Amino acid sequence: MKNIDIGKILSDGAEYLGKTVEVAGWVRTSRVSKNMAFIALNDGTSLKHVQIVIDRTTFDGDISDFTKNGASLWVIGKVVPAMKEGDFEINAQSITLLGDCPQDYPLQKKYHSMEFLRTIPALRPRTNTFNAMLRVRSKLSFAIHRFFQENGFTYVHTPIITGSDCEGAGEIFRVTTQGYADAMRAKDEAEFVGGDFFGRKAGLTVSGQLEGEVAAMAMGKIYTFGPTFRAENSNTPRHAAEFWQVEPEVAFAKLPDIIEIAQSMIKYIIKAVLDECPAELEFFEKAFEPGLIDKLKNVVESDFVILEYSDAIDLLKKSGVAFQYPVEWGLDLQSEHERYITEQIFNKPVFVINYPKKIKSFYMKQNDDGKTVAATDLLVPGVGEIIGCSEREADFDKLISAMRERGMKLDDYRDYLALRKYGSVPHSGFGLGLERIMMYITGIQNIRDVQLYARTAGDLM
Ligand code: 4AD
Ligand code: MG
Repeated sequence: MKNIDIGKILSDGAEYLGKTVEVAGWVRTSRVSKNMAFIALNDGTSLKHVQIVIDRTTFDGDISDFTKNGASLWVIGKVVPAMKEGDFEINAQSITLLGDCPQDYPLQKKYHSMEFLRTIPALRPRTNTFNAMLRVRSKLSFAIHRFFQENGFTYVHTPIITGSDCEGAGEIFRVTTQGYADAMRAKDEAEFVGGDFFGRKAGLTVSGQLEGEVAAMAMGKIYTFGPTFRAENSNTPRHAAEFWQVEPEVAFAKLPDIIEIAQSMIKYIIKAVLDECPAELEFFEKAFEPGLIDKLKNVVESDFVILEYSDAIDLLKKSGVAFQYPVEWGLDLQSEHERYITEQIFNKPVFVINYPKKIKSFYMKQNDDGKTVAATDLLVPGVGEIIGCSEREADFDKLISAMRERGMKLDDYRDYLALRKYGSVPHSGFGLGLERIMMYITGIQNIRDVQLYARTAGDLM
């Protein structure tokens, strides 16, 4: 078929004016009167539909199948100016029904809740919301690659199956070829694991960081961008079992350097979406978050706040707000605290720096105060944490002692530890949750709605 993208006809219509073109797509809505019929056709190449106009006084044949929502059509027709100045539509000369769509098609012309759409994962991409979401996600991903490529980073593919637990939270999905019967037969865990595919415990990666560090200790500046997995049993609008992370790792960078990189990256990718997806952002502003576009423009134009963890605790204590979870130096910030800081106090992105070492991961650089680590989380209004970041502990002995304190099996991290023995250098990195920043950019409030398929506890869609 020689169909032209509907998005191209709508944006470069002048080029096609008066010409006969072929388009193909799915019917979004239609309107039929005695002499005319109008079909809004969408092929996914733009948020806007193209209007197919049928002059029933001259059009041959029955058109009733063409006007059903969800039907797929192949249309040959002439591009003409539409009523609205600058818009284009197509006067149909011939229409072929590619796929009929019965009346029980779930997407009728009415409001559908996001919860309902989750029950029809195969069809929800045909809504405006998912059309816009998927395009923004695509443009955003490409902008992420562009940012790193333009700044001399090497893209590395870290393994999905690993034997380590980067975040040490025990939220790993096990990878095994063994079943219940093997488990029953084995006399203990060692025998069970020994008989498994890899001969040792394996799981889906929670983060590409540890392997990313290996690459950075040779390539200097690297990033990974791929799926990560967490068997977190928390049923929140912000946690998914499968989500994408962008993880740069930079040799010779200290915490302030990596913060600088994180801030430039966030500004760069948000600016890219503002430039490349204006129609989608207008849609999200109307449907999900009033003021969205100004919010994003502000992020691009102003610097983020940098706030000491200790000062964050003081601010929360002084706030007089009755939080559900306690606020105390040494305790982790809960979502309600993060949101209060970024929404109520600053109303912009905030890097909280120097967290207590007890609540953070083993690999973070221990500060001289003996109590904190050179780590930061980037918090944004409406979502909370979107980035987890730190300088890494480059000192062999300090790293070993942090791992021992956590009862980690050093043998599982031999490769990683070797990096601290052979030419260790200061280095830093971060992980940006792609779905979290998608929520921030679109105003969509549930992580299940910024993925094509969502994987969450108890639900494989
Ligand atoms: O803060 P996290 O756990 O940090 C790491 O994994 C580091 N190893 C990253 C690094 O330094 N290379 O996760 C990083 C980010 C979070 O800030 C959040 O945006 C996202 O990943 N994230 C999740 N997104 C969706 N669902 C979940 N269950 C997530 N867990 C983390
Ligand atoms: Mg984190």
